[in-house]
Amino acid sequence: MRVLVVGQGGREHAICWKLRQSPQVNEVYAAPGNGGIASIATCVPIEATDIIELADFAESLRMDLTVVGPEVPLTLGIVDEFQKRGLHIFGPTRLAAEIEASKVFSKEFMKKYAIPTADATICGSLDEAVAAVDARGIPCVIKADGLAGGKGVVLPSSRDEAIATLTEIFESRKFGTAGSRVLVEECLSGEEVSVMALTDGKKVVPFAPAKDYKKAFDGDEGPNTGGMGSHSPAVVLPAEAAAEIMKKIVIPTVQGMADEGRTYSGCLFVGLMLTADGPKVLEYNCRFGDPETQAQILRLEDDLAELLLRVARRNLGETKLTWKKEASACVVVTTKDYPVGGSKGHEIIVDPMDDDSVVVFHAGTAKKDGKLYTTGGRVVNVCARAATLSDALAKIYANIGRVRFQGARYRTDIGYRALGQRAANAAT
Ligand code: AMP
Ligand code: GLY
Repeated sequence: MRVLVVGQGGREHAICWKLRQSPQVNEVYAAPGNGGIASIATCVPIEATDIIELADFAESLRMDLTVVGPEVPLTLGIVDEFQKRGLHIFGPTRLAAEIEASKVFSKEFMKKYAIPTADATICGSLDEAVAAVDARGIPCVIKADGLAGGKGVVLPSSRDEAIATLTEIFESRKFGTAGSRVLVEECLSGEEVSVMALTDGKKVVPFAPAKDYKKAFDGDEGPNTGGMGSHSPAVVLPAEAAAEIMKKIVIPTVQGMADEGRTYSGCLFVGLMLTADGPKVLEYNCRFGDPETQAQILRLEDDLAELLLRVARRNLGETKLTWKKEASACVVVTTKDYPVGGSKGHEIIVDPMDDDSVVVFHAGTAKKDGKLYTTGGRVVNVCARAATLSDALAKIYANIGRVRFQGARYRTDIGYRALGQRAANAAT
């Protein structure tokens, strides 16, 4: 099988790594890929958003399967274009990807299908939004409707900060048209978990739940990021609660999307808050999570190529996934200024890990003349699997210093919200 992976992050490196292990796969291409992917796949210099070029490339090489990592090409209709040309591709169509592309759409959808989520007011102007903040009071959550690269959600700590945020969105057009509307949302509290499932539009196959750590600094301080680390199992989510989430949230979402004429196929990601009133949806993503996928893939026993092809062919049938009982984790090493700024161009040295079970997935790296350089943001992911989550994390932290570049930074407490609860929850 010849497979093309679209994207350039740690998630895509993990997907390429797992695809390489499939006996069915003999060629892996990545567009555009990164410095780490380049050592296990053929990287082609086509941006993930150049849909026509990607489709031309896949068609010319008679690609058996294309796997899309990031949301932007999905929301631009990459799946629609490939399907039009009769090419197998893993991911939702443009209409189905709306579930991530518009928070207004997803909020109205959840209301219509009685899927538990935070109460929210949809606002189309600064005045409306200020009135909604005043009605709700602080704390509340402000969310730009469209894609904002993980920066569109703000939890203001005062009315002044809320108004400043809204003014930036509506008057300074900080997020462009993505901020034409906002949600002013009830602030939920509880533990967050990431639940993912593969679906062909009918059948839903759950992934092992995971947990990510979104805040930039230790102790969950600082701004939100794309994710600073993750682990699987989530530990904070007992197996019965995970089954309940499938029944009450994930399956009704897939059924609802089909009823809306937006049949959803691919990976459905649901970000949830486990509140005192039960799990509530914070967000949907129309793709695999990053960095959740890096941890999950280390536990997946099955042939990823076979699974993704079944989804692309809409025949998941009775597929069931098998997960290693061990735990896995991922710690993200970033540039010193992440998530703001964009320092790049620093040479990266990766010394061999002292343990074969430690895997380094690359994200913001590029290879030039045989050397690796940072390209900004999240640079590499150090991941490991072990009998327990603490063991996996201990392996990662014992090795993380072997990845060196100027300004390298990482959280030192990934896993802290789960450790201590391990005994109460078997791996789910
Ligand atoms: P989202 O992109 O919608 O998942 O939001 C990013 C992060 O903001 C989430 O992971 C939560 O930490 C936080 N968040 C979003 N919505 C809420 C909410 N209604 N209440 C509390 N925190 C929230
Ligand atoms: N880690 C959350 C996300 O992929 O959006």
